[in-house]
Amino acid sequence: MEKTSKIYVAGHRGMVGSAIWRALESKGYTNLLGQTSKDLDLRNQQAVLDFISKEKPDVIIDAAARVGGILANNDYPFQFIMENMQIQNNLIDAAHKLDVKKFIFLGSSCIYPKFAPQPLKEEYLLTDSLEPTNEWYAIAKITGVKACQAIRKQFGKDFVSLMPTNLYGTHDNFDLKTSHVLPAMIRKFHEAKENGNTPVTLWGSGTPMREFLFVDDMAEGVVFALENTLPEYLYNVGTGIDITIKELAETIQEKVGHTGEIIWDSSKPDGTPRKLMDVSKMNNVGWKHKVDLEEGIELTYNWFLANQNDFKEVKL
Ligand SMILES: NC(=O)c1ccc[n+]([C@@H]2O[C@H](COP(=O)([O-])OP(=O)(O)OC[C@H]3O[C@@H](n4cnc5c(N)ncnc54)[C@H](OP(=O)(O)O)[C@@H]3O)[C@@H](O)[C@H]2O)c1
Repeated sequence: MEKTSKIYVAGHRGMVGSAIWRALESKGYTNLLGQTSKDLDLRNQQAVLDFISKEKPDVIIDAAARVGGILANNDYPFQFIMENMQIQNNLIDAAHKLDVKKFIFLGSSCIYPKFAPQPLKEEYLLTDSLEPTNEWYAIAKITGVKACQAIRKQFGKDFVSLMPTNLYGTHDNFDLKTSHVLPAMIRKFHEAKENGNTPVTLWGSGTPMREFLFVDDMAEGVVFALENTLPEYLYNVGTGIDITIKELAETIQEKVGHTGEIIWDSSKPDGTPRKLMDVSKMNNVGWKHKVDLEEGIELTYNWFLANQNDFKEVKL
């Protein structure tokens, strides 16, 4: 990959897209292309075709999506399935029609079956049913993986899918209506501390196990996939290490300095009991994470403290 290659990062203002942008800049890539959703609505097929045909990028990295936690997935199933399919289909189809050389599609670990053996290997895809609370999003993402695989198989093009585990980090979404578990906990513990160490109520039993990857490590994985021709169509990207939600809560509580009680609301859903990625394929081709969870939480909390006045509420 030339440092002057034109690289379009779709979703460049999002948590993942902005980390990819920073990683590309720091590695000396000089010809980066980004559009806000206001300037280019990726749900609009003609607008996407016109944009790609005008700009002629060498590479497209698809980090644009409608994302959110259990609550948002549950409340807005139509947006989660339809918008994600529209965004990715328009980008994949335009990239194929207009001969974009490389396409990197970002999915998610929730594409794997709810009760798949752990750790999750890439070949478990489509072997059983999904977790119902996020099946809308997962089904959209699975069709994206399959579309890229089909283009790879039929036309021999370098279209590859990366499946990140739960990501967190700077530029995360701290809106409690739509956020993922880790940033939601940071905000809840911080606000409870500010209010005199009031109790913090968390969803579920605390027993599910989850894996978390710092977003800058994910971005390094994307740059790795950009700079290397990977032999398979699908790679998990994670740390290969998981902890219980209870351990996560206690770690965040300690980093934030909250000394109040934690109440577990077991009337709320837990989601999948365990979700750990087998990352051996990605490790074997040469990528490995660098930032451990404690360091990542510290970096994320510091970013939260510096930016908490600027958060915009997410509207669906
Ligand atoms: N966060 C995670 O834990 C996680 C885990 C696994 C996989 N992923 C994947 O990583 C990717 C990025 O996630 P993220 O966490 O960075 O999400 P994010 O912070 O919400 O960013 C999403 C981006 O998508 C863009 N977008 C959404 N709808 C659009 C539309 N209709 N037209 C144009 N752009 C649109 C937004 O653009 P504007 O800002 O301009 O509106 C935004 O920049 C997604 O594919 C997601 O599935 C994320």
